[in-house]
Amino acid sequence: RYHCMVIGNPIAHSKSPDLHQAFAKQTGITLSYQRQYCPNDVDSFTAVIEAFFAGGGTGANVTVPFKEMAFSLCQQRGELSEYARLAGAVNTLAIKAGKLYGDNTDGRGLVADLLSQGVRLKDANVAILGAGGATRGAILPLLDAQVKSLHIANRTVEKAENLTRLFDTDKLTFSSLTDLPNDIEVIINATSIGLSGDTLPFAKDMTVDFAYDMMYGKPSAFLEFFKAKHAKTSDGLGMLVNQGALSFALWTGKQVDLTNFHF
Ligand code: ATR
Repeated sequence: RYHCMVIGNPIAHSKSPDLHQAFAKQTGITLSYQRQYCPNDVDSFTAVIEAFFAGGGTGANVTVPFKEMAFSLCQQRGELSEYARLAGAVNTLAIKAGKLYGDNTDGRGLVADLLSQGVRLKDANVAILGAGGATRGAILPLLDAQVKSLHIANRTVEKAENLTRLFDTDKLTFSSLTDLPNDIEVIINATSIGLSGDTLPFAKDMTVDFAYDMMYGKPSAFLEFFKAKHAKTSDGLGMLVNQGALSFALWTGKQVDLTNFHF
């Protein structure tokens, strides 16, 4: 029997419990999976996580605003996967050899969703918009997918530049949002701009083959912009599903089959 949770603030609208119950049903396991509210401070977060695992918890998903706190906790008294270390954030907690273990499945979930939609990443020129945690977590998985180049564009250029410095590769470049290279094949929106009602200041002649928005569940001006230019587009629901499947596999050892999986 597996006992899992998602911890966040706010947490009431999280889709993770339904998602993981669908995985449990498909793989034939019994799972309890709670939504866990937590006050937004380190002491509360640490106490809730400790109590959860002391009480026999199998694993936890960590969402806004706790991913960096979970990272620090694992850094101090547990272990981190390479993905979590380079993301600077943890979205999945588990117990490994008796110790707290922090992973980050968000970026691999993104890449898995892109590949399952037939997007070619190998040798492709890819751009990602934004330089926050969402972008940082996607960099190693996109480099693993053997992209030709990965361009990080951000409103605050310095933050994009800082991200490129974390990685020892010449594939990473950066710029402002208005200065994107003109040979981009795949563009990914990892900004929170959709929440603000602003639109991105692209050059009107910008074209791509595929545009992906990490957000889902609301209209995306970013996707509409590229749809109007006949690009293929996708929202981020598949990223949610795929990051969840990776967490589920870490906790249970079971691989979810996502072909024809509807959520
Ligand atoms: P996350 O952890 O989800 O990536 P974040 O760290 O708050 O969230 O980062 C949000 C990103 O969206 C940032 O890159 C931010 O740009 P700045 O670094 O310049 O702040 C970007 N962003 C948010 N609102 C934006 C807007 N209205 N226009 C352009 N970029 C925006």
